[in-house]
Amino acid sequence: MDKRKRILTGDRPTGKLHLGHYVGSLQNRAALQKDYETFIIIADVQALTTNFDRPEKLKQDVINVAIDNMAAGVDPEISTFFIQSLIPEIAELTTFYSMFVTVNSLRHNPTIKTEIQQYGYKDIMYGFLGYPVSQAADITFCKADLVPVGEDQLPHIELSRKIVRRFNELYKPVLVEPEAMISRVSRLVGLDGNSKMGKSLNNGIYLSDDGETVKQKIRGAVTDPNRIKLTDKGNPDICTVFKYHQAFNEGEVQNVAEGCRNAGIGCSACKANLTNKLNAMLEPVREKRAYYEERPDKVQEILMTGTAKVRGVAKEVMREVREAMSIDYFG
Ligand code: TRP
Repeated sequence: MDKRKRILTGDRPTGKLHLGHYVGSLQNRAALQKDYETFIIIADVQALTTNFDRPEKLKQDVINVAIDNMAAGVDPEISTFFIQSLIPEIAELTTFYSMFVTVNSLRHNPTIKTEIQQYGYKDIMYGFLGYPVSQAADITFCKADLVPVGEDQLPHIELSRKIVRRFNELYKPVLVEPEAMISRVSRLVGLDGNSKMGKSLNNGIYLSDDGETVKQKIRGAVTDPNRIKLTDKGNPDICTVFKYHQAFNEGEVQNVAEGCRNAGIGCSACKANLTNKLNAMLEPVREKRAYYEERPDKVQEILMTGTAKVRGVAKEVMREVREAMSIDYFG
């Protein structure tokens, strides 16, 4: 048996992953997988909360999210990938949890609130409102200890912890309270200066973007609006490009800030510098992507064997859950 602590984390397969995912979570996963037993969930059921009217998209999106993770360095030889909807125990556990989670606690969840605004929902679906409960089941069905995520996920981890405490006190202490783990850069602004990089906002750089695309996107990124001429002194604190230097060019942050403040470096040169750093970082990611894209059978095999392994864990924990709740009717 694996004695290491267990990590569970993952993504909704709703499209390509971007640099926000990379610094917020993917990089962390790749670094931690050596020291923790790592499970990566491809949360297709959660993707359905917003994409229920086009489920046929999932087939491709599930593969893409798996490849994005592997390209970013999550090694399928070390970490275990699995598909949420193929673990029925997660759905079962979600149902049991939903008996004691209040509707109000979900309506006040800050991430749910932001998403309602972002999607412009007037009324909300039951499944959407309840997805944090389902996410608690994602995390706890395998007794995960740690959950590396971006900061927008913190309310969900907090709810998971509450659910575990409640379950353990109501029935029997069989579940493990998970801890969130936040990365150094837990939120990346969009190229347009919007507070968050997001698919629906069209302000992102994708892990699958080629070098030229990255260059063009950075060229168009928002900078200090008061710095018009090369000789104008800039303010890095309000510059989007500087925030990217902080995230991806840690070593030169001081120089970049100084060069901006005293007009020693122009915005074009500053952007070109960032572009080079990003492309150097993304080159190995692109190579790994190409490797897996050329081997669809291998990707499928990774997902199938990972899911089968995780299913075994889920069955075992669900047996304990039923026993704790005294609904293990026939022994
Ligand atoms: N909510 C996460 C996101 O939007 C995806 C997710 C689903 C997840 N289940 C999870 C993350 C469990 C961590 C743990 O990216």
